[in-house]
Amino acid sequence: MLAAVPVPVTVRVPGKINLHLAVGDVRDDGYHELVTVFHAVSLFDEVTVATSDVPGVEVTGDTAAEVPTDATNLAWKAVELLGRHADHDTDVKVVLRKGIPVAGGMAGGSADAAGTLVALAGLWKLDLTREELAVMAAELGSDVTFALHGGTAVGTGRGERIVPVLSRHPQHWVIALARQGLSTPTVFAELDRLRAASETESPVRAVEPVLEALAGGDPRQLALSLGNDLQAAAVSLAPDLRRTLRAGVSAGALAGLVSGSGPTCAFLCDSADSAVEVAAELAGAGVCRTVRVAHGPVPGARIVDENEPP
Ligand code: C5P
Repeated sequence: MLAAVPVPVTVRVPGKINLHLAVGDVRDDGYHELVTVFHAVSLFDEVTVATSDVPGVEVTGDTAAEVPTDATNLAWKAVELLGRHADHDTDVKVVLRKGIPVAGGMAGGSADAAGTLVALAGLWKLDLTREELAVMAAELGSDVTFALHGGTAVGTGRGERIVPVLSRHPQHWVIALARQGLSTPTVFAELDRLRAASETESPVRAVEPVLEALAGGDPRQLALSLGNDLQAAAVSLAPDLRRTLRAGVSAGALAGLVSGSGPTCAFLCDSADSAVEVAAELAGAGVCRTVRVAHGPVPGARIVDENEPP
């Protein structure tokens, strides 16, 4: 008798913004020591894995052409890593439906890797603990662990050590997607260059005000404490971001900042209605490729139950 082919598994996984990103020194392994506050927002990728005679990665969505489908794709690296770990054939097709901007500073590639780990664990019926998954996630990339967890969390080390943060209140965002991406290593290198050229030591950004604002839930207080050390480097490489940031605040956002290494910008708004208004005005200002309304925090990588309403 032939073995039954397992039913394909689909996972939904969110993108992130960094409410706080303090970049420290470069370590011996080339990574920077970080203290960051990750916040998962409602821009999702969907990852479907299925047993296939033609293994590989397929990408759909408007930005599909920008995503590699060869072995350099982090989702395929996740297949290989879990295949080795579980001693399982990698006869799988991974289909990525992109909703998270590509090379946008929202950890879209990391989200796909986290989604693939969770989906394959389901497809192959592996009994893995959250900790085992987290160890593999950290091996794949600095932001992959957070994409598994979602919510709001402090990240330390190179970003892979995660501690959840209490934030019961939803926050409303407008996300401005840029016309062109920025490479994360290039943005970190630009920050190193700017720091080396500067005569003064930059002050260390404190995380406590962000944590207090999140616990309180008042978006106006949170707006005052948002900050990202990589923003100056992203703006230095893509100076048009200054106009985007100004336009969001002129449109009525409480604050705007570059997300991670950019060039995506995130604007905090004081309500869902305000976010819709800010998005409409920003879309008309001609300062970005497109805008999305989002909220956070949302959960990390989760298997989609086909019977559940979207
Ligand atoms: O870990 P990940 O592959 O996502 O990192 C991409 C690149 O971003 C690294 O190769 C490094 O250049 C830079 N990076 C860094 N310090 C971090 C995280 C990332 O310098 N903490």
